[in-house]
Amino acid sequence: EQSIKDFISETIRTIPDFPKEGIQFKDITTLLQDKRALELTSYMLAQPFRHKSVDYVVGLESRGFLFGTNLAQDLNAGFVPVRKPGKLPAKTLSETYALEYGEDQVEIHEDAIFEGAKVIIHDDLIATGGTASAASKLIERLGGVIVGYSFIIELSFLNGRDQLTQNVPVESILIE
Ligand code: PRP
Ligand code: MG
Repeated sequence: EQSIKDFISETIRTIPDFPKEGIQFKDITTLLQDKRALELTSYMLAQPFRHKSVDYVVGLESRGFLFGTNLAQDLNAGFVPVRKPGKLPAKTLSETYALEYGEDQVEIHEDAIFEGAKVIIHDDLIATGGTASAASKLIERLGGVIVGYSFIIELSFLNGRDQLTQNVPVESILIE
């Protein structure tokens, strides 16, 4: 497993000062274009949850969509998108969350999940945890139960996991 992680890690490229000065951007396009890394990443994302009962994988726009539907299929679950404001056509719930400067918003269709549904939240990366925590609130407002978090990369020095729903497993392939 460690050698798989090392291999996946080597396919991710870090771009300095993108999109702003001081940000080390984790670019997974180089992972996606490598067919072995693509397959191994899907495999590693599903692995911790194989024997869990899951109703929905919730993927966070936009990079959480890339593996989200595939993860849903692997876990025999449906897929639900959480999107940036104004993108979902039917009735939505929204959550606003703070950024370093200003604020951002995420939305979900209000009929996207049933009450008591078991949900895994997936995104490519967790940094401050703001996005995943806002998504968690949306799911909990709809009566969903978060049974896991799934990330390719966790920037642990930003302590994003502290923002997530307590006592829920957080599974990150790569922890930096
Ligand atoms: C990035 C990343 C996560 C989020 C993590 O998305 O893909 O979704 O930031 O940051 P946080 O833990 O501090 O909230 P971004 O907003 O760059 O948009 P994109 O996925 O649409 O490219
Ligand atoms: Mg994102």
